[in-house]
Amino acid sequence: MTAKQIAIDGPAGAGKSTIAKMLAQHLGYVYIDTGAMYRAVALLAQRRAVSPEDQIALASLVQEARIQLDRNGHVFLNGEDVTQEIRLPEVGNMASAVSAVAAVREALVRQQREMASQQGVVMDGRDIGTVVLPQADCKIFLTASSRVRAERRTKELLEKGLSADLEQIQREIEERDYRDSHREISPLRQAEDAFLLDSSELDIPQVLEKMISLAEAKL
Ligand code: DC
Repeated sequence: MTAKQIAIDGPAGAGKSTIAKMLAQHLGYVYIDTGAMYRAVALLAQRRAVSPEDQIALASLVQEARIQLDRNGHVFLNGEDVTQEIRLPEVGNMASAVSAVAAVREALVRQQREMASQQGVVMDGRDIGTVVLPQADCKIFLTASSRVRAERRTKELLEKGLSADLEQIQREIEERDYRDSHREISPLRQAEDAFLLDSSELDIPQVLEKMISLAEAKL
């Protein structure tokens, strides 16, 4: 039996990682958060003071970044647990810039395909259904309005004791959406054979239920 693949794409803050993790648990698959991989490279770039415009430096940096994701959702960068640090908004902004660099994408896409060849996966990102796993068994494009996504992100940050400004977060989300969907390589877009799911008016259990029925129909 070949390893089953579920691809979930969509813009920042649509609830992809929360739902993808739950879906993976329900199906007994491994959850792979590809955004966390771009964030880990961004964190390394930030620490080394590498500019997101310096493509040559980023190409060599990505070769140095050993990224591991464990079953509990922890992210390790060269052996160090960076799970919390990669969630900082400035790392997210850096990740958006770093992810537009071809050499970074090539290196991470290779690792992602390798991961998906070994076990059943639920993989989330921006280009999973279009580029990373075009043959995925089930593709879902999860979205929500930018206002709703900003409200969710604000709540998340406040719950973690971090400061958050709703208007600013919404602006950043919209800027990031624009960059992610207008970049030259692997822009954020819905695969032709992906199911579009708008979570603006749905709560987590409702989205999960919908996803389970979509996934189970295809497996
Ligand atoms: O989903 P996220 O916010 O953790 O992703 C961080 C950044 O990485 C985001 O700006 C888009 C980029 N990304 C990407 O280009 N391709 C992916 N498969 C996943 C994330």
